[in-house]
Amino acid sequence: MHKKIEILKDKTAQAHLGGGKDRIASQHKKGKLTARERVELLLDEGSFEEIGMLVEHRAKDFGIDKEIYLGDGVITGYGTIDGRAVYIFSQDFTVFGGSLSETHAEKIVKIMDLAMKNGIPVIGLNDSGGARIQEGVVSLGGYADIFYRNVMASGVVPQISAIMGPCAGGAVYSPAMTDFIMMVEHSSYMFVTGPNVVKTVTHEDVTSEELGGAMTHASKSGVTHFAYANEVECINGIKKLFSYVPQNCEETAPFADYAAGDEWREKLNTIIPENPSQPYDMRDVIQELVDTDSFFEVHKDFAENIVVGFARMAGRSIGIVANQPAVLAGVLDINSSRKGARFVRFCDCFNIPLLTLVDVPGFLPGTDQEWHGIITNGAKLLYAFSEATVPKLTVITRKAYGGAYDVMNSKHIGADMNYSWPNAEIAVMGAKGAAEIIFKKEITSASNPEEKLAEMVGLYTENFANPYKAAARGYVDEVIEPAATRQKLIRAFKVCETKAVKLPRKKHGNIPL
Ligand code: HXC
Repeated sequence: MHKKIEILKDKTAQAHLGGGKDRIASQHKKGKLTARERVELLLDEGSFEEIGMLVEHRAKDFGIDKEIYLGDGVITGYGTIDGRAVYIFSQDFTVFGGSLSETHAEKIVKIMDLAMKNGIPVIGLNDSGGARIQEGVVSLGGYADIFYRNVMASGVVPQISAIMGPCAGGAVYSPAMTDFIMMVEHSSYMFVTGPNVVKTVTHEDVTSEELGGAMTHASKSGVTHFAYANEVECINGIKKLFSYVPQNCEETAPFADYAAGDEWREKLNTIIPENPSQPYDMRDVIQELVDTDSFFEVHKDFAENIVVGFARMAGRSIGIVANQPAVLAGVLDINSSRKGARFVRFCDCFNIPLLTLVDVPGFLPGTDQEWHGIITNGAKLLYAFSEATVPKLTVITRKAYGGAYDVMNSKHIGADMNYSWPNAEIAVMGAKGAAEIIFKKEITSASNPEEKLAEMVGLYTENFANPYKAAARGYVDEVIEPAATRQKLIRAFKVCETKAVKLPRKKHGNIPL
């Protein structure tokens, strides 16, 4: 018996060594943790249960059968984060560059199937050169098996991907189909093909960092939702994100402790500048509205003219979508519409109520936007809000103009409670543009056209650029003093807890992709 236990201990030690001491040292030298160290940091101490530690690859070509590493380059299993169960895989770059073989894929597929059956989220720590080149189509098949499960699990259990090293090919397409991606600055990269292939095909000289580094994807492409300075911060980011999401689509996110107190926020009464053209930071409004320090911004560096993120309202996890007047006056464009739509859909999948804060001058005009499809992309946000059945509350803090009024979770597309602050301007367009169009004749024929224009702008503003026409129709449920907003929202979210809406029976909708 002892002998057999010794064999098991030997094998365990071998598996823990991954691709060997030298490769582990090289990983550390690059400032990277090992796959196992990452798992230990992420999960509650002692909670990890490994699955498939003794799996070996079955390939034979190119002498690969001489190189067997137990576990075959990926650590899989389950454990807990803050006591909540999670399935996890962590790719080991020290074994064939974390590349995906047939058996490596089977291990990931196994935990994804278990996660689906048990209604438990999946976290993938990716550090992989993609399909294992020596295995050819077998490894491509392995990726397709994973892609298929990513899609089947989408909207059933949350899927979170962290990119912890250079990831190529399938190692970026699988994360792309999960709900959130996190990257580490200067040590993680995502590309379909690396700089060498780019040079050959397009003759472009580009570094890995420029092509697919964390900041490139956080700010330019929007592929990653988060960029962190190092791996430890990234792992803490995963834990934080996890705290806002439920285990699966049948459950609600965990509540945080909250002691009810005075919810009046006097600062909100003076937070909007007197001059309607002056910008302000919508994040300051958010901080006043939500539980202290609970705002967790998503996609912070991408399409900054819209702010999205999680927060808590009286302990309840909510999603916030807010125009950002401090960037491009908060206008809706292609990227901000895509960003908002994706976030709304995630929240709706996982029963996270939505709060929308509106200060929007409309959609961004121009050839660049039109030629790249602002119509289709803007429609995504409209579609996502319309389709969402979670509790949906809206506060118009200042401007709500044109189509953007409709899009930003208006009453007409299913919002449950719509509030407006008294200074709000709800109209087809800004007063000056409107006056110039509808009073064109009066202005051009006036002895002093400028004076006439100012008079007509005043007339239009008095008539339309206020919240009272909308309130009179019931499109706005209540015009409220800003300082009272937090209390109103807490009560409205509470009363909407039992909301039940069924969409018409269909196979699935056809969001304008
Ligand atoms: C087998 C691989 C590998 C791979 C890396 N290695 N990628 N082995 N299959 N795909 C091995 C290397 O041979 C090396 O082994 C070790 O991993 C470390 O690799 P390095 O190149 O030394 O590391 P680095 O310089 O950091 O570069 C990392 C890298 C690069 C950027 C990932 O290795 C690379 O470009 N790899 C190939 C990427 C790729 O084209 N993959 C196929 C994608 S196709 P030794 O023994 O020297 O330590 C795909 C299709 C899926 O995934 C379908 C998509 C829809």
